[in-house]
Amino acid sequence: MVKRADLKGDRFYKSAKELGYRSRSAFKLLQINTKFGLIRAGDVVLDLGAAPGGWTQVAYGLVGDNGQVLSVDLQPMENIAGIEILKSDITKEQETLTAIKTVLKLKGRAFVDVVISDLSPQLSGARDYDQFRSSVLSTSALNIASALLKNNGNFAAKIFQGAYYNEFYKCVKAKFRYTRAHSPAASRKGSAEIYVIGKGFTVRKRKDDF
Ligand SMILES: C[S@@+](CC[C@H](N)C(=O)[O-])C[C@H]1O[C@@H](n2cnc3c(N)ncnc32)[C@H](O)[C@@H]1O
Repeated sequence: MVKRADLKGDRFYKSAKELGYRSRSAFKLLQINTKFGLIRAGDVVLDLGAAPGGWTQVAYGLVGDNGQVLSVDLQPMENIAGIEILKSDITKEQETLTAIKTVLKLKGRAFVDVVISDLSPQLSGARDYDQFRSSVLSTSALNIASALLKNNGNFAAKIFQGAYYNEFYKCVKAKFRYTRAHSPAASRKGSAEIYVIGKGFTVRKRKDDF
């Protein structure tokens, strides 16, 4: 847990405040998108682990008026005009998928262009346990992305580096034409987090495919 006092000298924290972003994490997505070009104007984006909403604000700015953002979190999230927010536990994958599909259908969509996940467990301080819980969340994000991404869609998900990281990277690599791991400058020094990027989702036959 980062103490408020530690944030005082943090340039990303300060800039987030100045620019009206709900979290300093907003800069991580901005940096990831500048490097990998995952989100484009007009895209439909699914943001997993979205609260308090910094990534959602960035995604909404990138997709513009012709795009859509759907944000999911366990925690309640304050509304952002134009954004659909779902309160759901993403490890309950079928339940979450059903809820997301219902919202997409109302918008006349069946699939999404991009899935982004900044999911993180509440840190326990026990490194191995936290790495394990991070990998469970990232795997659920990948499973949900695999059910909802369009052919050629894009993906980015946080995972804590450690025993489960290589397996997760391999699973992403098996589903996307291009895979990289990236640590944006806005990630804190010494943080175990890393983002696995997948571009060009290759769809296996799914029931609802077009
Ligand atoms: C680091 S925060 C996300 C910050 C966000 N990207 C932003 O920019 O504001 C991680 C989020 O993951 C959410 N989370 C953790 N476990 C979850 C789960 N099982 N289902 C849904 N959300 C979960 C937490 O509630 C928390 O809001």
